[in-house]
Amino acid sequence: MDMKLWVNLAYIIAAIAFIFGLKMLSSARTARRGNLISALGMLLAIIVTLLQKDIISYEWIILGVVVGGIIGASSARLVAMTAMPQMVAVFNGFGGIASLLVGWSEYHNYLGIISWGALLPIYLAVIIGGITFTGSLVAYGKLSGRITGRPILFSGQRLVNALFLLLIIVAGVFYIGKLEPQYTYWIFFSALGLSLLIGVMAVIPIGGADMPVVIALLNSYSGLAACAAGFVILNNVLIVAGALVGASGIILTKIMCKAMNRSLANVLFSGFGAVKAKQDSSQQQGEAKPISIEDCYYILEAAQSVIIAPGYGMAVAQAQHVVRELGDLLTANGAEVRYAIHPVAGRMPGHMNVLLAEANVDYDQLSTPDDVNPTMDAVDVCVVIGANDVVNPAARDDENSPIYGMPIIDVDRARSVIVLKRSMAAGFAGIDNLLFFADNTRMLFGDAKSSVAGLVAEFKSVN
Ligand code: TAP
Repeated sequence: MDMKLWVNLAYIIAAIAFIFGLKMLSSARTARRGNLISALGMLLAIIVTLLQKDIISYEWIILGVVVGGIIGASSARLVAMTAMPQMVAVFNGFGGIASLLVGWSEYHNYLGIISWGALLPIYLAVIIGGITFTGSLVAYGKLSGRITGRPILFSGQRLVNALFLLLIIVAGVFYIGKLEPQYTYWIFFSALGLSLLIGVMAVIPIGGADMPVVIALLNSYSGLAACAAGFVILNNVLIVAGALVGASGIILTKIMCKAMNRSLANVLFSGFGAVKAKQDSSQQQGEAKPISIEDCYYILEAAQSVIIAPGYGMAVAQAQHVVRELGDLLTANGAEVRYAIHPVAGRMPGHMNVLLAEANVDYDQLSTPDDVNPTMDAVDVCVVIGANDVVNPAARDDENSPIYGMPIIDVDRARSVIVLKRSMAAGFAGIDNLLFFADNTRMLFGDAKSSVAGLVAEFKSVN
């Protein structure tokens, strides 16, 4: 067999590893192994690619690996868990610019070529890569607070964006169809510039808190750009890997939109968060009832079944380790403990799963809202740790609520609810939560980590 055949065989094995790895990511139990299998597939693909004789010079490749490795490893070590979405945004952006550069370099090689089959992937790699690059940088800026997280809206915005899109399509027809060959240079580089502009224009009208959805979408774009780059350099594994990233990114985007009960169009065009929904405070029923750590301990100590519902505040407080400790103490005390994880709790997909896995919470204790809701009436205590929107009954009961229709964890139906948060402030959706005023709810104010640590200390001092 000649070398090319061996290489393609290795690429097929790598592609199988990607697919199995992806499949295994769908369950917390198998996710780590899935990640490893995909990574091994990628290692195999990289090794066989480097073994090919047409890799002319290894020096630049080694330099790239060393520089990229140092930047990647140090940023992965330094990044705070709450800053993970913006790090993913930057990585997507780098994927986009890499595809753009591949397309750009091949533009020069293909100048004399008339075949549209060769020019189309170059154009797509450059355009999608450009949009992904600047779009991701804006997403990074919004999430890291370097630029305003509020939607930036102006009149005629959609018209301007539609015009840019139209221009880029027309430029594509001219470039790929070689309609005005003497202007190819201008057409190509104007389109490249326009793609960078479209990336910015597409993301500025989106609210900072919607950025995780946008990042999933940009991740999908970076895959499509890589797929196009794969066609440009005729590399099968890049085509397959790019297509898988493109498809899984769009599926994830859909799952996130569904879990928020919003359409993608609503996320992209509504400027959600531009005007925070104002609620009539006369709707509020009664007063919120604060509770001390000591009283909270007595409620928990007597509970037979406990559901812990974590949210974004647990991530902010980095309370996952003490939460697991509390869960273990409750179990040792004879209670059945489950962690109810909402698909959009936190600020990125799987946010709570990652934190709880980091704290070594037993996978068997993790439940979805669909698992826990039917049994909620029989639950003694729900401990809500820094969650707000995902436990807001308005999503279920108030047709006028901006989050109406979003599936929630029905914690309000438990016998007692203890909510851990620092104040009465709203969550991501910016709306009040009547759960905090319910008769069966007690508010344990303070940073989630110190409140839970206080509860752990109570358990330990008594037992
Ligand atoms: P949120 O509704 O954002 O509420 C988080 C709560 O945590 C806040 O009310 C805040 O109240 C509290 N908090 C913050 N820091 C805290 C700390 N150190 N200690 C204790 N509490 C703290 O969170 P959620 O219920 O997880 O809902 C997630 C929201 O994000 C949903 O609306 C979802 O649609 C949206 N979203 C999620 C995703 C993904 S993929 N997860 C993507 C986009 C949007 P205080 O300030 O009073 O403490």
